[in-house]
Amino acid sequence: MKTLRLNVAKSEYDKSINTAAEILKNGGVVGMPTETVYGLAASAYDDNAIKKVFVAKGRPQDNPLIVHICDLGMLNEVADDIPEIAYTLAEKFWPGALTMVLNRSEKIADSVSAGLTTVAVRMPSNPVALDVIKVSGLPLAAPSANLSGKPSPTTANHVLNDLEGKIDAVLMGDDCDFGVESTVITLVGQTPMLLRPGAVTYEQLLKVLPNLEISDAVLNELKVGDKAESPGMKYKHYAPKTTAFLVEGENFTDFVNTKQNAVAVCFEEEASDIKIPKLIYGSKNDTLTLAHSCFSVLREVDKFGAENVFIHAPEKQGVGLAVYNRLIRAAAFKVIKL
Ligand code: TXA
Ligand code: MG
Repeated sequence: MKTLRLNVAKSEYDKSINTAAEILKNGGVVGMPTETVYGLAASAYDDNAIKKVFVAKGRPQDNPLIVHICDLGMLNEVADDIPEIAYTLAEKFWPGALTMVLNRSEKIADSVSAGLTTVAVRMPSNPVALDVIKVSGLPLAAPSANLSGKPSPTTANHVLNDLEGKIDAVLMGDDCDFGVESTVITLVGQTPMLLRPGAVTYEQLLKVLPNLEISDAVLNELKVGDKAESPGMKYKHYAPKTTAFLVEGENFTDFVNTKQNAVAVCFEEEASDIKIPKLIYGSKNDTLTLAHSCFSVLREVDKFGAENVFIHAPEKQGVGLAVYNRLIRAAAFKVIKL
């Protein structure tokens, strides 16, 4: 299959959005930019189209997709028995990087929910994504547009690197603003629960949802037989081929300088003292930059051909929690505490 590159510069914008919408209405799959990461979109009503998404990514069948909508009318189409608090959260955080798990409506294709009775929904803020949803008139199921297990794509070229020839088209938008995936919370069940940290922070959500709990899976590896509230959390993820370790503590520079055949992923402040090959992912306290660059940096690690990569862990607060959550998975939960 030839993958179309759809240019979204001003002169070609309308034409490209229309082409993407037509492909989606005809059961095709399209890579699209969002403010978090690039998504691989298909109609949430079309079981066949959704199956193509799973095949292109090599995604495990039991890992459900997020449905992207453009207005609250669409929310009422894709979810049922929506609690009042969902509308309060929507007003505060949508369009934006918050995904809510709700009871699903019967209209949603079974494969979107991977057999669950729930559906994850978000309204993205990226105008390209919003326009494709609007023009197609379809809620779009879209997981991140990477091969399953690889770092999520934050540029159109990352999508092509992973999926060229396997999908119908890519909307060649800008690099993603945020760079890690949306915050996922579930509002189904007794207590609201944070399933995946993201740009909308736990601290921000607590102001609206004072009883919000953090799922154990956010910072810990699930044991065999544990029930995953969010199936995606149980898989190894985001990993380079180089063996990765997450390193916590102040003495990172001394630690990595004793290592051979290794790469360091470090903060700006310590870079000049590090004597082994290194990649900088931002300033220690600038967690937005760390989020923005973490997946690109993970995609670059393998080019050194080293045996191990040591990644300096960010703080686990605010946006730092989202970055830490992705990096601990990239390291397959191998944490070194200095
Ligand atoms: O920012 C994002 O959320 C990006 C962009 C494209 O919007 N999408 C994304 O999709 O990250 P994906 O498929 O890579 O991650 C979806 C996560 C998975 O961890 C999945 O298990 C969880 O959401 N999820 C989806 N539906 C769910 C459901 N019904 N119940 C619990 N978790 C669900
Ligand atoms: Mg993903």
